[in-house]
Amino acid sequence: MLIAGNWKMYKGPAEAADFCLRLRDTELEGVDVVVCPPFVSLAVAVQLLAGTEIAVAAQNVHWEVEGAYTGEVSAPMLRELGVYGAIVGHSERRQYFGESDETTATRARSALAAGLCVIARVGETEEERERGETENVLRRQVAFLEADDNLVVAYEPVWAIGTGKTATPEIAQEAHGFLKSLLDVPILYGGSVKPENAAELLSQPAVDGALVGGASLELDSFVAICRTAASL
Ligand code: 13P
Repeated sequence: MLIAGNWKMYKGPAEAADFCLRLRDTELEGVDVVVCPPFVSLAVAVQLLAGTEIAVAAQNVHWEVEGAYTGEVSAPMLRELGVYGAIVGHSERRQYFGESDETTATRARSALAAGLCVIARVGETEEERERGETENVLRRQVAFLEADDNLVVAYEPVWAIGTGKTATPEIAQEAHGFLKSLLDVPILYGGSVKPENAAELLSQPAVDGALVGGASLELDSFVAICRTAASL
């Protein structure tokens, strides 16, 4: 079971350091834990979590090794910092920054080739679900990805991200089962995961962990979710 905390655009270096120091002193066994700070806080997180089992991943990564790509960061640069992986294709990247299935796949491929682990996020919008297009959307998004030992997919329905609306365990199980029939990799659920709903979601057979946004920002709620995962 893998629990990843996506901090989004929260926690600069000082707040990240405070969180990592407290996380480092927390007993966490039987679960793989990853934190995904903003770029500027990666170095301090890597430094403070060195020697623990907790991994640090970025929230995005460019497909080229270097070049004239203002504002981007490459996989070898992240590797040099000691970063273990990266999220690609988050719906907020797709919504606000023009990320597509193609760029997501290109980022994933380059990151994997550079030795990073990748969490590739997929998921349908509310309108797509209402129109009965969920499976088509997931099929299209996953078609761009290739199975890899270091690839994990995160199913995050857009309508459940930051809305407090969580997929029911049945919806999550159905989507994960469908995704697994297309691509044989671990699948995390994301979208309003909290200590109160973690057990029912994580106990679904096709749910291999969670990608947690808001509830990963507070140590207590993040640790509670990690411990729930460890107990299952
Ligand atoms: P929330 O847990 O805040 O809904 O965010 C989910 C998410 O986008 C994680 O990547």
